[in-house]
Amino acid sequence: MNWIKNSFQLSQILTFCFALLFFSLVDAKDIPHLKQQGSTFQLMVDGKPMLVRGGELGNSSASNLQYLGQYWSKFKALNMNTVVAPVYWDLVEPEEGKFDFSLVDGLIKDAQKHDMKLVLLWFASWKNSMSSYCPEWVKIDTKRFPRSRDRNGQAFEILSPFHPENYQADARAFASLRAHIKKVDKHQVVIMLQPENEVGMVEHARDYSDKATELYHSQVPQKFISYLLENKSHLTPKLRNAWALSNFRTSGNWVEIFADSPQTEEFFMAWYFAQYTHHVAQAGKQEYPLPMFVNAALIRPGYQPGQYISAGPLPHLIDIWRAAGPAIDFIAPDIYFPNFTYWTERYTQSGNPLFIPEALRNNDASVNALYAIAEHSAMGFSPFGIESIEEVAGALLSQSYDLLAQLEPLILAHQGKPTMRGFLQISDQQKAPQQIRLGKYEMQVKFEYAPPPSLANGVINESGDISRGPKMPSGGLVIQLSENEFIFAGIGITITFDSLMANQQAGIVSAQSGRFEQGKWQNLLWNNGDQTHQGRHVRIEPGQFGIQKVKLYRYN
Ligand code: DGJ
Repeated sequence: MNWIKNSFQLSQILTFCFALLFFSLVDAKDIPHLKQQGSTFQLMVDGKPMLVRGGELGNSSASNLQYLGQYWSKFKALNMNTVVAPVYWDLVEPEEGKFDFSLVDGLIKDAQKHDMKLVLLWFASWKNSMSSYCPEWVKIDTKRFPRSRDRNGQAFEILSPFHPENYQADARAFASLRAHIKKVDKHQVVIMLQPENEVGMVEHARDYSDKATELYHSQVPQKFISYLLENKSHLTPKLRNAWALSNFRTSGNWVEIFADSPQTEEFFMAWYFAQYTHHVAQAGKQEYPLPMFVNAALIRPGYQPGQYISAGPLPHLIDIWRAAGPAIDFIAPDIYFPNFTYWTERYTQSGNPLFIPEALRNNDASVNALYAIAEHSAMGFSPFGIESIEEVAGALLSQSYDLLAQLEPLILAHQGKPTMRGFLQISDQQKAPQQIRLGKYEMQVKFEYAPPPSLANGVINESGDISRGPKMPSGGLVIQLSENEFIFAGIGITITFDSLMANQQAGIVSAQSGRFEQGKWQNLLWNNGDQTHQGRHVRIEPGQFGIQKVKLYRYN
């Protein structure tokens, strides 16, 4: 009898151990992470790659879940699958060491209820350079938590990155947040995190506090020198050129190695900002290793360090952020400027994966999303202030996100490979068609911006002009399915074809418009005649997003 009881207990213990092992394996496998595919990295969620059809909340909207509650149906109607939302240090830790995660819990619950994922932004030591989200006990204790100072010793509301007390307090709170998410988020609603927000110095190229000045005139950290030596052949041009001024010295202070300039002051600040953010990120990672990125405010043309938010995770500083911040997985742009193609290109140099946590929520957001995801294998896209998106921009984004949802498996299979391209006019000034090569074909893409008939008259556009209606977007993508088969998706694009084979011309066998339903193509119209200009081109009309499946051939 006794042995039955004992063996029963033993089998219970064994079952329990197996269950524990099983669940810990499942957990480890299912934690969102980045995985390389071809030349890019994809975000893996629930064991498979995912495209983030996101929208970032206005800064204060996540401070009241009831207020936010009115917008979830709008997010659904926009075909979003992810909300990018802030978590506020001042509300999470109003008293030192006493944490209140009720907003985070509610956010996770509400997102899950609406079948959405969350990317959380840790508004802590810095938000758009300033330290406005620090809790009161940090703000008022300037002795314990020192501020940056100008040349006259005047303090400003930017925590100094040179003081361990500052990052230790931030890191403790971030680690608690991560431990809490790990505990409560059993369905992996939270998929990525951003420590801090638009870190950087503004109005001054650097902190001029005594501690900062002492470090500026001290040896450049050996860790940075080693990185410079190891990566000398492919450093960003600005960094390499500055280092070349000292004939690539390998010891000395910041001025001796890079010369005395606002640019050197920016390098110096970038090193310490990155190191600080690394400490915060690392503390969080130890609790729960979700992917992490840092975002940057971009530079207006002609602005010098100190005039823009300097020393943040900008592309010319990527080496410094990489060397000082290994716990951070990648850097990300907040793109509010019209030269979208320029910034996406800069941010994908030297293998940085692309994710756009913030973008202008205008009509162009709809095509910018397609372009970034196809041309640069972006993990996702997210216009800022999504709850306030205007009617036309919202309708366009919703169509574009619907199209991304239909194409998601196909896009994910082609990311990081040379079989997918994005279409976007480089700028309003440059009207030339875009020319791309895919397999044995060359394609010329022309962009049309006409509004649909219902919007053409009497509607006030973004510049207040009522005569022409709002400027409509134009752009899209192409995916090569086989030698002669292609998927085109987008709005307001006309594509003509040439053969890259000698003495051959390209023609259209067929062009169908339709939809993907559960990954399967459903033909809607068999386009020919006027719709293909009698076999001369493929056209997706302006004003309405669409998908076409096209078969080409070559003849002589
Ligand atoms: C960029 C910031 O990261 C956001 O939090 C917000 O302040 C926007 N700018 C406002 O345009």
